[in-house]
Amino acid sequence: MADFTLKLRRYDPDSGEAAYWQDFDVDMPPERSVLDGILKARADEDGSIAIRCSCRAAICGSCGVRVNGQSVLACNTKLSDAVRGSKQDGAIVVEPMGNMPVIKDLIVDMDAVHWKKVHRVVPWLLPEGEPPEREYIVDAEAMIDVTQSMACIQCGVCVSACLSMEVDPEFIGPAALAKAYRFVGDPRDAHTEERLNDLAEDEHGMYDCTHCFACIEVCPKDVAPMNQIMRLRRLATADYGIKDSNNGYGHEKAFVDIIRRWGTLHEAQLLPRSFGQGSLVQSQVQPAALKQLIDSAPTAARGLKSGKVSPWKVLFHKKLADQDQVRRIYDEIEGKDDRLELNLYIVGESEDDEGEDEEEGTE
Ligand code: SF4
Ligand code: SF4
Ligand code: FES
Repeated sequence: MADFTLKLRRYDPDSGEAAYWQDFDVDMPPERSVLDGILKARADEDGSIAIRCSCRAAICGSCGVRVNGQSVLACNTKLSDAVRGSKQDGAIVVEPMGNMPVIKDLIVDMDAVHWKKVHRVVPWLLPEGEPPEREYIVDAEAMIDVTQSMACIQCGVCVSACLSMEVDPEFIGPAALAKAYRFVGDPRDAHTEERLNDLAEDEHGMYDCTHCFACIEVCPKDVAPMNQIMRLRRLATADYGIKDSNNGYGHEKAFVDIIRRWGTLHEAQLLPRSFGQGSLVQSQVQPAALKQLIDSAPTAARGLKSGKVSPWKVLFHKKLADQDQVRRIYDEIEGKDDRLELNLYIVGESEDDEGEDEEEGTE
């Protein structure tokens, strides 16, 4: 047994008082969870502590909180690990998840944010035509592709950690976009292009993600929401050629073309090319692109003032010494008939593979 101090953020809207911190000492084995600690504090000291939980085994997804500032499942976080991550003299700081309004103590309003966003992506299959007499038959490969997004337990921990959502609360967000890929990637769904178009054209849609990796780091089920968002983008741009009004297509094309030409990022070219569907010329002749370019003039001015952008950097950008090698990689990848998607979620070997390996080994 060991003593742990839990510093809980308390808030009761009915009291009319502001939120405050309250310490509770619990005596428990270190391998027990933060949730166990909170439940013990509630049982022994203060029955009014509010936290949502059910399975206590990282399955139901209801006990999301922030421990020492990190979004986690309380039942999936050991007291010993939490105390090691303490930034307050060993006290384990527990507060409600971020990006969602607090209802009471550690309980947030999932309906107001998380579930609203999940509903936004039409989270059910939309097949067309007469249903088959028996069941739909789907290739195993196709199901492997969506298995990772299907592992989501809707805990909202990634929503809590999402940095883009802090800046733009309307952003659809990691959990809902992972759910969107679950149906976009399902061959039984007949509305793939409409779904992609919708997520590309929404100004708070899939191009609002800034690749910060936070959702990948915190997800307790390895759903890797950011990877699902990147898959949605690749489908929208490379496979369906959706040229959206948010310049997602243009931004991606600008990156690809710049690296092909120079080998490193030419930032001064990135902005105008992004607004011109990837082309420098179009950004100067298309009224909408030109307007967006003019609107971003204050950003460019700030860059010049801070020294991040200089007239020299704008005009000249050195190519890599072995730029031909970069082009060769492009040619080889683009010369392939199919795009290869690695699904790193499914690991291990099938029994057949093992058999083959053994046979190979005996030869
Ligand atoms: S990678 Fe994108 S979706 Fe994930 S937390 Fe960062 S901004 Fe949000
Ligand atoms: S993607 Fe992961 S973190 Fe986000 S809601 Fe699903 S299980 Fe939770
Ligand atoms: S109580 Fe179910 S996930 Fe934590």
